[in-house]
Amino acid sequence: MKVKYAVIPCAGKGTRFLPITKGVAKEMCPIVDRPTLDYIVEECLEAGITDIVFIVSEGKDDIRKYYSLDEEYEKDLIEHGKDNFAKIIHHIGTKANYHFVVQHEQLGLGHAVLQAKSVVKDDNFVVCCGDDICTYKGDSPVKQLVEVFEKIGGKTVVGGQKVAHENIVKYGAMKVQKQLGDRLYQLSGIVEKPKLDEAPSDLASLGKWVFNARIFDELENTPRGAGGEIQLTDAIAEIMKKEDVYYYDFEGKRYDCGDKLGYLEAIIDVGLSREEFREGLIKHIKELNIK
Ligand code: UTP
Repeated sequence: MKVKYAVIPCAGKGTRFLPITKGVAKEMCPIVDRPTLDYIVEECLEAGITDIVFIVSEGKDDIRKYYSLDEEYEKDLIEHGKDNFAKIIHHIGTKANYHFVVQHEQLGLGHAVLQAKSVVKDDNFVVCCGDDICTYKGDSPVKQLVEVFEKIGGKTVVGGQKVAHENIVKYGAMKVQKQLGDRLYQLSGIVEKPKLDEAPSDLASLGKWVFNARIFDELENTPRGAGGEIQLTDAIAEIMKKEDVYYYDFEGKRYDCGDKLGYLEAIIDVGLSREEFREGLIKHIKELNIK
């Protein structure tokens, strides 16, 4: 039941984050000193995942560059007395096995995940949106979900949380059949971006899932859905007709970094969580004298 792979779709157009996304992938926009994407990679590594599959669009070479080893650069840093940075750079290039798959057409999240089949094959895998980060105190949300997946015998686990009623229209909304544990539920339905008066609940799917390889069969047969895109949520609704699907209400604070306000909130909170910036940042905020 081990989960070895994490698939991280990073091939989206990022239109909500224009104009920066004309030239830079939103997944590479920095939160303090690391790209958004790297916070997600770290969460996966904490869960014991060894292989990261990045789904990229043509031309998103900055992601590939960031995770490549660069011995010349390391040597140069050491020669300039920056051994510590050389170590950090080396670690980024070696902390996982990296795979890159190009999604040639941006047909949606479900289509992006399907592109990983050539690497993942028959294995179980995590999916994390490349623009969704979390802050947390104990285990990473990905680790929480992987543990549930292993415990319940390798069936789909949707990570999510309750959101404000007016926001459910932005997410996959879930219908619960029964509660099985403290934060664990069995689902009876899921629908992508419902109309406000048609949402089955305010429980939102929030960018993290664990799947067995049978989801690929569903994705291969999933027609275009909401927004004309091939939706991962629609494939989950299909697999629910054949096997149990679970919802885990993960612990942690989630930020949508594909949204400008969500991104700003993430920078402030991550900045405040860093010992070396905390005091200065609090001083700065106090001096703003916000009423
Ligand atoms: P989003 O819906 O946030 O991505 O998808 P988007 O299409 O870039 O967003 P906007 O609305 O245009 O701003 C969530 C994740 O799925 C990836 C995105 O890169 C993001 O990490 N994605 C989305 C793909 O990899 N391929 C797609 O076709 C769509």
